[in-house]
Amino acid sequence: MAGERIAAIAAHPRFREQYALLWAAEREREFCGHDMAHLLDVARLMYIYALEDGAALSRELIYAAALLHDIGRYAQCSAGTPHHIAGAALAGEILESCGFSPEETGRVQRAIAAHREAPGTEDDALSAYLYRADKASRRCWDCPAAAACNWPKEKRNKTVGY
Ligand SMILES: [Fe+2]
Ligand SMILES: [Fe+2]
Repeated sequence: MAGERIAAIAAHPRFREQYALLWAAEREREFCGHDMAHLLDVARLMYIYALEDGAALSRELIYAAALLHDIGRYAQCSAGTPHHIAGAALAGEILESCGFSPEETGRVQRAIAAHREAPGTEDDALSAYLYRADKASRRCWDCPAAAACNWPKEKRNKTVGY
């Protein structure tokens, strides 16, 4: 069980609203999407990394970062705001009303804001795991749209990892 605060995020009206808008916008998308399967793949990979490393990160912080990391995607599609920026702002709004402290909220927002770059684990494990899990979650080797994908070949996942 991920906890009551995670259930609160998943049921939060703002989360549901933005998720539904993005889901509808990506319905016909042939490339990687940002649906619940992706969000949960990222959460579970992050949790595996934390267990393997014995990292002192709570499951709730991990799931909060994973569930919310792409919540700004619809704002990017509709208004052009980069999704890591829009997502960090939306996450602040959502986490505050789901019982996360300002310190926890700030940590999740930092991880979301940094999830398109590659932070070092020693700087911030939550951010580092989010970046790594986001990339590792993609099944490039099994993707029917691989020929048309603009993701650089050297960055693609070549086979099963986790
Ligand atoms: Fe993203
Ligand atoms: Fe993602």
